Amino acid sequence: MDIQSIRAQIPALASCTYLNCGTFGPTPTTVAEEAVRLTRLIENKGPYDRDVNDEILGLFEHSRRDFAKYVGATPDEIALTRNVSDGINIVASGFDWSPGDEVIITNEEHPSGSLPFLNLTERYGVKVKLLTFQSNVERLLADLDDLVSDKTKLVFLSHVSTVDGARLPAKEVGEFLKLKNIPYMLDGAHAVGQFPVSMKDLGCDFYAGCGHKWLLCQQGTGFLYIAEDWITKLKTSWVGWGMAEDYDLDSLSYTSLKTAQRFEFGTRYWATHASAVKALEFHNNIGPENIYTRSHDLAAQLKRRLADIPGITIKTPMDRLDSTGIVCFSTAGLNHPEPGNWLWKNHRILTAHNPDTKSMRIAAAFYLLEDEIDLLADKLSELAS
Ligand SMILES: Cc1ncc(COP(=O)(O)O)c(C=O)c1O
Repeated sequence: MDIQSIRAQIPALASCTYLNCGTFGPTPTTVAEEAVRLTRLIENKGPYDRDVNDEILGLFEHSRRDFAKYVGATPDEIALTRNVSDGINIVASGFDWSPGDEVIITNEEHPSGSLPFLNLTERYGVKVKLLTFQSNVERLLADLDDLVSDKTKLVFLSHVSTVDGARLPAKEVGEFLKLKNIPYMLDGAHAVGQFPVSMKDLGCDFYAGCGHKWLLCQQGTGFLYIAEDWITKLKTSWVGWGMAEDYDLDSLSYTSLKTAQRFEFGTRYWATHASAVKALEFHNNIGPENIYTRSHDLAAQLKRRLADIPGITIKTPMDRLDSTGIVCFSTAGLNHPEPGNWLWKNHRILTAHNPDTKSMRIAAAFYLLEDEIDLLADKLSELAS
């Protein structure tokens, strides 16, 4: 991988050290320029100019095919959403819930992974059970086995923990749940673009992901995978033009599309997904495996350095297979209450730091330099001395 030529395609990297890519970083020039080109086209000519409309909708479908291919699904199994939260809500509201039904989620869900289910508790009396997020397969499956019951209607788990970047043995969970015939959904917000994911391999029924984190797409590029046999079983809650094959006001009936597009409706900003085509091209040209390897190498380097800094406690698993490019650690032992602000103001190093929990989350994205990882460690050492 020629890292310098890759970095030249993301010029913002020259002006600051982006260690928070997982929570939005700069996009490559090709993506930014495509977004501007499409916006200009739409605003100058109007979205329903025939040529504009053909181009935008053509690229929108192109991006559906690209996302589908990227995750090993068919385009019919992909709904293009605004974000990961959309996908989770579509599934959470797609079952006929009754009081006493049970949903299992992990204790490390992002608010967008827990609130849609807590909302079901409020509305329908659904019981939410918490599974401890852990990377050890045997312990995870044993705990899951203790929690499932004949009332379990859905198991929803983060593929990668938003708290510390630990990786779930998601495939083994899929095999376990398949035997029990329990629907299975994964939140892939921090998995997609970090390492290759394959829907069929994971054995999940639903998978919510996005391009706007690790794939370096524009904001607003979510997708939801719905396994073929679920497309017509999952109920639609929000409907409108674009999701039906036909409707008839005389008979007061309609027929929904037979693809995951039945979960898309109404006017939206199609150009956002259209520019994702360029981001996936950028990613695929570098190669998902290369990206995975480099990012994990950088994370390993960072963990090695952090382990030597007094006052820092690493929370992310050290084992490569159990973790990702995200490295999370406690900053409680450092001599500064807000090291994230200090790093930004003094050294233009962008991190994600939570002063309340005194923890810092670093995204060791593939495009970083080894020197930048060392720079962070050096600066944190200064706060430790
Ligand atoms: C694990 C996880 N799930 C869901 C979300 C929400 O994603 P979105 O903003 O695309 O809805 C996030 C956002 O950071 C996340 O980390």
